[in-house]
Amino acid sequence: MTFGRELILLALFLGLAGCLDTGRATPHPSRPADARRGEYLVRAANCAGCHTDKEHGGAKFAGGGSVPTPFGSYFSRNITPDPVHGIGAWSDADFLTAMRKGIAPDGSRYFPAFPFTSFSGMADQDVLDMKAYLFTQAPEAAVNKPHDVMFPFDVRANLGIWRSLYFIEGPMLPIPNKSADWNRGAYLVEAVAHCGECHTPRNMMGARDQDKAFSGARLVGQKTPIAPNITQDAHDGIGKWSVEEIADFLKTGLTPEGDIAGAPMSEVVDEGTSHLSDGDRRAMAIYLKSVPALAGNPK
Ligand code: HEC
Ligand code: HEC
Repeated sequence: MTFGRELILLALFLGLAGCLDTGRATPHPSRPADARRGEYLVRAANCAGCHTDKEHGGAKFAGGGSVPTPFGSYFSRNITPDPVHGIGAWSDADFLTAMRKGIAPDGSRYFPAFPFTSFSGMADQDVLDMKAYLFTQAPEAAVNKPHDVMFPFDVRANLGIWRSLYFIEGPMLPIPNKSADWNRGAYLVEAVAHCGECHTPRNMMGARDQDKAFSGARLVGQKTPIAPNITQDAHDGIGKWSVEEIADFLKTGLTPEGDIAGAPMSEVVDEGTSHLSDGDRRAMAIYLKSVPALAGNPK
């Protein structure tokens, strides 16, 4: 009896959480948006890596790139400023709500194959700078493709429950007793460059298991099927790499042993981290050096 009532209460709670989470974000810019800063961040996040259908020669940011998951392939969307097929008609609030809350302008929820789960940590100003940069790009009239995933992972309405269990909304706040470099590194690694989206293992619901953050994960449909353990474990992780060696790897894609990173890490470096400043790469390395050691490798 009690169990039944608890279940009903739980369902009500989750349903309610699902309804409440569709609020919109209000932009609080501190200055006009800066497309050049936006370009730097869009690179760091490698938005083009997912939002370009390279396989079929698609235009940059025009969408249709496949994001393979155990549930099937999700397809990225057209984020060029085309007013009909892209995001050209979006307001700042629309864009901020998508990136921060994972909610579309019509109120529907995005699938977490779009790593808004990480981008949510970004500062308002950085998100709006990204939008300013995307709006300098050529509009492309590419039509969005439907996702090719199995039930129930294709039902947006189910995401209310998923979100109430696994989504922690940003923005990330600096931790006062940590250095400016550490905080900058944490921000770049966790939010912008979303390193954990590949390197943190996922549960059966496709959510990152934060207790095992950065301990490595099996990837689906990628040339290199394992994103290795990058915690500070000296044997299974990168505990023996120095700050300089990690920063160099993010610049060149070369490990201290002289191995070249394979895809998709090679793209993360070539399209993303190799374009960052030395200071930002160093900050990321400083943050990674503080990631708790976890033994083990993804199976
Ligand atoms: C890992 C792949 C991946 C990365 C990286 C990625 N996206 Fe996406 N994005 C997606 C997918 C998949 C969707 C579609 C989600 C859905 O249909 O629910 C999407 C949807 C979107 C949307 C909603 C568009 C619409 O028409 O509703 C926006 C805006 C967006 N992404 C912006 C970005 C920006 C900006 C970046 C870089 C900061 C980025 N994305 C990085 C995969 C990605
Ligand atoms: C799209 C998935 C993906 C993302 C995002 C990603 N990685 Fe990787 N990473 C991989 C894969 C796969 C490998 C293994 C490459 C290989 O074995 O050649 C790898 C390898 C590495 C290695 C080398 C580890 C070793 O033991 O050789 C480091 C360090 C690393 N990544 C750090 C990062 C950091 C930092 C970020 C964020 C800037 C990041 N990765 C983002 C998939 C990813």
